[in-house]
Amino acid sequence: MKIVVLHGPNLNLLGTREPEIYGSMTLEDINTQLLELGKGFGAELKCRQSNHEGALIDALQDAQMWADGVIFNPGGYTHTSVALRDAIAALKIPVIEVHLSNVYAREEFRHHSMISAVCKGKIVGFGWRSYTLGLQALAEILKEANPK
Ligand code: DQA
Repeated sequence: MKIVVLHGPNLNLLGTREPEIYGSMTLEDINTQLLELGKGFGAELKCRQSNHEGALIDALQDAQMWADGVIFNPGGYTHTSVALRDAIAALKIPVIEVHLSNVYAREEFRHHSMISAVCKGKIVGFGWRSYTLGLQALAEILKEANPK
């Protein structure tokens, strides 16, 4: 099982970026947790981050050539990007949307996601655990689809 974990803009600043909202774990800490968890499922993970919309689209298109599924936190592009939505809609592999913060308890503009409708599912508000919960869900879905 191969999974790409994709982090969007400003998530490289985790640990120091508004820790009261996003927690004190760094992106590297989160990736380490995910790699450990993935090992337990027998999953191989590639973790990538970009601050650029086009680079995220390239990463999604690349993911399809290698991975069985994607965990994606598009950061602020969640609320604005038709191009990311189109990129996800074009993929044949499942994408799970994750957010550290509970976007519904925050500003109104964060309540709408451009990508939710084209994702398999979405996990919000559990801090770094949103990623581990997302990975767990994706691994189970992929196992169910490919029992061996
Ligand atoms: C976020 C929520 C977005 O609204 C915000 O722009 C982010 C992080 C989250 O993980 O909670 O950059 O995606």
